[in-house]
Amino acid sequence: MHTITNPSGMRKWATEQRQDGHTIGLVPTMGALHAGHLALIAAAKAASDLVVVSIFVNPLQFDGQSDLDKYPRQVERDIGVCTAAAVDVVYAPAAASMYPPAFQTRVLPGPLAEVMEGTTRSGHFEGVTTVVTKLFNAVQPDRAFFGEKDYQQLTIIRQLTADLDLGIEIVGHPTVREPDGLARSSRNVRLSTPQRKAAICLPRALDAAVALANQQLSSVPNMIEAAKQIIAAEPEARLDYISVFDAATLQPVVGLANDQRQAGRVRIGCAVLFGEVRLIDNRDPFSS
Ligand code: PAF
Repeated sequence: MHTITNPSGMRKWATEQRQDGHTIGLVPTMGALHAGHLALIAAAKAASDLVVVSIFVNPLQFDGQSDLDKYPRQVERDIGVCTAAAVDVVYAPAAASMYPPAFQTRVLPGPLAEVMEGTTRSGHFEGVTTVVTKLFNAVQPDRAFFGEKDYQQLTIIRQLTADLDLGIEIVGHPTVREPDGLARSSRNVRLSTPQRKAAICLPRALDAAVALANQQLSSVPNMIEAAKQIIAAEPEARLDYISVFDAATLQPVVGLANDQRQAGRVRIGCAVLFGEVRLIDNRDPFSS
């Protein structure tokens, strides 16, 4: 395995591999790799000749300097994890090579970025679409793999790829969870012991809403209320938002027609703060 640290080196390697007829799978990450990333790497390996894992803590997508500073960084450990997982290339560009002083262009997402995460995290998705476009241009993958925990991000990247004719297949992978149900996230390591215990309220709240959704007479307000009560009962937790939303448009739904009570039509998602750590999760209430 080798490590490439600038966009031109990455592009050169990718161009040569493509000329030799190899397919490339990309797993974009911000490092602090965990079991969720390993599942993406395994999926990429199964579907591609060569796998690139990018590790770049993208300053454009953070809410503020303090959030950026506190993001866990462990590149040496991550390179070891990628070596053990038989990744072909770790692409870990230096910030100065991604955003030199003259850098000024942004890739602007549309209405998909205006709901949920977009209401409180101004500019976040613009940062994501900008960096993902740059990663795609350097790595030139056939397929790119993203976790469904960040369902809104996954949907926006699918739209970006279609709108800009990037010709890359975007593969979503089911959320990987801790044994107690908490979604794996690089942010979990920032939780204190009491916050980590409390964080279980997040999957439990979604479980309660999903259980209600599967009762024919349940309503969307009932689902949301059941989830809210579980989060409100946890003193360490502060709810940011909870939404039952259309899986394609991400717009909130107010009621569930019969044809929406099927896998792939709606999702329920929420964001909850534990101190300064903000966690997100979502579920498809009708997938088995
Ligand atoms: O999901 C992430 O880790 C990041 O948002 C991504 C897609 C690597 C872009 O920085």
